[in-house]
Amino acid sequence: MVSGALPGFRDFYPAELAERTHIFATWREVAHRFGFVEYDGPPLEPLELYTKKSGDEIVGQLYNFVDKGDRAIALRPEMTPTLARMVAARANALRKPVRWFSIPQLFRYERAQRGRLREHFQLNMDIVGESDVTADAELLAAAIEIMRLLGLGPDDVRARVSDRRILHGYLLAAGVPDAAFGGVLAVVDKIDRQPRDVSEEKLAALGLGASAVRAVMDVPEQTSLASIQALNVQGGEAAVAEFSRFAEYVEALGGGEYLQPDLSIVRGLAYYTGIVFELFDAKGELRAICGGGRYDNLLKQSGGPDLPALGFGMGDVVLGELLRARTLMPAPAAGLDVWVAFGESAGVSDAMRVSSRLRARGLSVEYALGGQQLSRQLKAAAAAGAREAVILGAPDVAPDEATVRRLDDGHERRVRLDEWIDEAGPAASARSPTHS
Ligand code: HAM
Repeated sequence: MVSGALPGFRDFYPAELAERTHIFATWREVAHRFGFVEYDGPPLEPLELYTKKSGDEIVGQLYNFVDKGDRAIALRPEMTPTLARMVAARANALRKPVRWFSIPQLFRYERAQRGRLREHFQLNMDIVGESDVTADAELLAAAIEIMRLLGLGPDDVRARVSDRRILHGYLLAAGVPDAAFGGVLAVVDKIDRQPRDVSEEKLAALGLGASAVRAVMDVPEQTSLASIQALNVQGGEAAVAEFSRFAEYVEALGGGEYLQPDLSIVRGLAYYTGIVFELFDAKGELRAICGGGRYDNLLKQSGGPDLPALGFGMGDVVLGELLRARTLMPAPAAGLDVWVAFGESAGVSDAMRVSSRLRARGLSVEYALGGQQLSRQLKAAAAAGAREAVILGAPDVAPDEATVRRLDDGHERRVRLDEWIDEAGPAASARSPTHS
């Protein structure tokens, strides 16, 4: 017998699914508030969609196979190449800027570690067709708004922001040869996760001299707007001015308290070209909650028009861990509205008729599927978390009447059944459970 899910895959029992639903609902709410519309794509894609665009790290983690038609296929590890393909195919017909979001399940054969699984759900919000930095600010503000709506403040989460063009200019000015830029980015990406001497050795192996190595090792020190503005950035002056405007706009959109300039944020993916950002728990204990940035060349590389683009992905795994750690997951939703029980002079078909009428009014209703003693039915009603039980056919009750019992305090009252059903509805159930 198979005893569990595959390593890195999750079973969502109802309690866990309720948590996931809470996260998804917040994602959808904020996407809606920011005027994004939802799309989706296929979970399987041609392998080459990723081998060409995603960068080595993701390509090494692909779940791929050859299908019965000899096609090389991959399970999607990220959404961005699909989005680029879809927008490129209809670029002329779409109103721009495109503001789209999606919540795909993604698959990466990762080394198991805290916060990293082999499947996860990821909110993707992307804007296509806008090169101005207002779009970068709008996107980060949306990611921050999600944190706020979930109850996570600037003491819980930091939005670390950088710009690949500024880093490029800084490295050029420090004497790092252009050809080594990709390799240096990979070292910077891991600089706070690996020992200093390992980073230094890797940089030397890329052909960097001692002063260039020192300059790279200093990148994580650049953690304020002022220090970044003061850097010598060969050819990156316009990017620094844009970065300053970006910070100003994020502030205007209400996200300023979360903002943390940090030049060491480079992002692992190959396609980013400008401002990049990642959201982290403020204590720095967990992996990134969210990552994204500008990828102005990807649509063209996907065979589409030359349209600027930017976006982010926010996973459900680290976010869920953080919300649980801060006890910010809501209590499980209330159970049933009504349990329909039946005593001696009523049968299951009476309960079915009443249930059917209550359900038509929008209430959530259950009754004992197998015939049971009334006392056992009422125990089952309590176990199901029902707010009220309506008891049909109790010994001393007239045929057109019923007893309604509140299950929290056992209070009972006699009602005329038809009238009570006609008045029942979700609005009534949303009122305080003590209403009578
Ligand atoms: P990414 O940084 O690879 O970016 O992933 C974004 C977020 O997804 C991460 O910050 C993390 O929360 C979550 N995530 C990624 N891999 C895993 C995993 N194995 N287990 C759990 N959570 C994970 C991208 O995927 C880009 N395509 C995002 C993007 C959209 N850029 C532009 N538009």
